[in-house]
Amino acid sequence: MSSDAAPSVRLPPECGTALLERFLKAEAMALWTIQSARLQGVPQNVYAFLRKHEEDEQQHLAQFETMIGRRPRNRERLPSVPKQWSALAVQLYGYESLGLEFAALLVTLRPDLASIRDDELVHVEFFEQEILRILRGEATAAEQARVSARAWWRKLPRTIDRYLEAEVLDPFRPVLAGSILSAIEQRFSATGLLNDR
Ligand SMILES: [Fe+2]
Ligand SMILES: [Fe+2]
Repeated sequence: MSSDAAPSVRLPPECGTALLERFLKAEAMALWTIQSARLQGVPQNVYAFLRKHEEDEQQHLAQFETMIGRRPRNRERLPSVPKQWSALAVQLYGYESLGLEFAALLVTLRPDLASIRDDELVHVEFFEQEILRILRGEATAAEQARVSARAWWRKLPRTIDRYLEAEVLDPFRPVLAGSILSAIEQRFSATGLLNDR
C-alpha cells in the first residue's frame, strides 16, 4: 500500500520557505518521538529499525536546518509516548504517515528533496507492516490499536492545522488539510485501523 502518488494540491513557489519551516518543526517532533519510543519496551525488530529511523530523521533535520539557517527550539523533555506497543505503533505510524504527506507536498516545490520523501515512505511501510501484524495477532492488542487509532484520528484535524500555521499557507489551508486528512483516512482504513472488527 504505497503512497507515492503526487498530492492533488499544487502550491505556488512562494510557499516553499513556509513549508520548509513547518516541516522542520514536524521533523523535530518525529525525532523526539522516536527517541522517546526507543526508551520503551518495543519488539526487537522494531528496536533495530528505530535506530536506523533515528539516523534518517537526524539527517533530515540537519538538512532542513542548513536550508533554513536555524535550529528548531530545544525541548526540555522528550514527548511522552504510550507504553503499550500496540498504541505506540499507531502513534508512530500516524506521524510518519503525516510526515510522508508533507514530504510529498514539499517535493512538488523542491524536487531536490525527493530522497527525504523516499525515506518517509520506508518509515511508513515499516510501521504499516507492524500495524498489520498487531491487527492479525492477539485480540486485546488489536483492539487497543484500533482504539488508539480512533483517538489519534480525532485529534488529527487540529494537528494538521497546527502544522500548516503560516500566513502564506492560509489561502490553501482548507484544501491542503482536506487532502492530507483523506490520504491518511484511506491509509488507516486500508490497514483496518478505522474499521470495527
Ligand atoms: Fe523525516
Ligand atoms: Fe520519518
